[in-house]
Amino acid sequence: MRDNYLEDLYSLLRFPSVSTDDKYREGLIECAHWLAKRLTSIGLETQLVPTRGHPIVWARNQHRSGRRTVLIYGHYDVQPPDPLELWDSPPFEPVLKDGYVFARGATDNKGQILSHILGIQEIIEHDRELPVNLHLVVEGEEEVGSGSLGPFLKENRDALKSDVAVVSDTGMIGRGVPTLSYGLRGVTAMEIKVTGPKMDLHSGVFGGAVANPITALAQLLATLHDRNGRVAIAGFYDRAKPLEDWERKAWGKLPVDGDKLVLEETGVPELFGEAGYNSMGRIWARPTAEINGIGGGYQGQGTKTVIASHAMAKLTFRLVPEQEGDEILNLAKAHLRKNLPSGVTMEITDGHSGPWYLTDPHSPIGEAAQRALRKAFNADVALIREGGSIPIVSQFRSVLGIETLLMGLALANCRAHSPNENFPLENFEGGIRLNKAVLQELAS
Ligand code: BES
Ligand code: MN
Repeated sequence: MRDNYLEDLYSLLRFPSVSTDDKYREGLIECAHWLAKRLTSIGLETQLVPTRGHPIVWARNQHRSGRRTVLIYGHYDVQPPDPLELWDSPPFEPVLKDGYVFARGATDNKGQILSHILGIQEIIEHDRELPVNLHLVVEGEEEVGSGSLGPFLKENRDALKSDVAVVSDTGMIGRGVPTLSYGLRGVTAMEIKVTGPKMDLHSGVFGGAVANPITALAQLLATLHDRNGRVAIAGFYDRAKPLEDWERKAWGKLPVDGDKLVLEETGVPELFGEAGYNSMGRIWARPTAEINGIGGGYQGQGTKTVIASHAMAKLTFRLVPEQEGDEILNLAKAHLRKNLPSGVTMEITDGHSGPWYLTDPHSPIGEAAQRALRKAFNADVALIREGGSIPIVSQFRSVLGIETLLMGLALANCRAHSPNENFPLENFEGGIRLNKAVLQELAS
């Protein structure tokens, strides 16, 4: 790998491009400009497309008739780095330790998308041009649901006409195990606000005579699951498509033990989840209801004898084929309204959402992807689904009419979304090889 590749990666990682928080707006804009400049410098025709949110970077080569058109997609936005005190080095000051680059976004998704860009650069330098027509789309709102990218696809449907999408924003099942992901879970979000008294009250003066909104919220949230961890919302599982036999068998033969991996990576005292599934099945093929945040009342040092006026919680639901996001939100809302304890009121606000995705890893392009993976990593290819979500992928199908090859480079210990996120240089280099191999395989 050339020396300047690491410098490129560091430059990209230094932008604090946190999409969910307005205070980072400049960081996103500067990051998008850096990418556009970099893509122009390797000979692609590049534009920055302004949106209501963060700009989309769109680059293409000279298209020629008779060649396949490949859309490579990634994102330059990142999750918030918080909690900062848990990082060993500052999140936007990348450092290399034992072959791993540490920084927010190192894996998700800057390291991965840069490896594509460097692969493209190497092909152009070596062969003067790419073997395919290329669209490279790098957006800045993936971590907040890709709200601007859907409209962008619709507005530019004709210009973006492609044969296939390639996305490296997923994982590898193990070190050195090339992985084709043929499914993603969907996600849909909501926020609940429970209100009791019109203001915070002295808990001695009023306590016992009014409902406490935090207690009510805790009771309400506890109704979401039964004692065995199954989601207790009526109808929640009705549309969930059972695992296919071939999948259960193939997952049983993967070179990684999912249960062991979960225990080791997370540090939990024991495994947890729906009976009849191992960890891979639970994560890749079953839906969940998660509480992602909860708040209310006094959080400072010491004690404050108060009954808070409000309490809030942030929820997300991971969806699997054939569940429908709006339907699940409605079922969840009905459940919450029915189970709300008396003495308080509740407001529910919808958040962002993205559907699940499932494709055939044995289709002709799926087979091409597998050949490229085998070539780049010189090992047998694992076929898996993913528990995470990439909201735009289902719109590549519904708007552009194309399937997506999910060929990611993240490892389970890359700590995406967590403190000390990191990306192994081994995968950065592998990603460059993979880009070259996949463009070649898709060309023929
Ligand atoms: N790269 C992830 C998605 C992912 C994670 C795919 C793990 C496969 C395995 C992506 O950047 C992400 O985090 N997406 C969000 C989407 C949400 C905020 C709408 C997610 O899954 O939480
Ligand atoms: Mn992410």
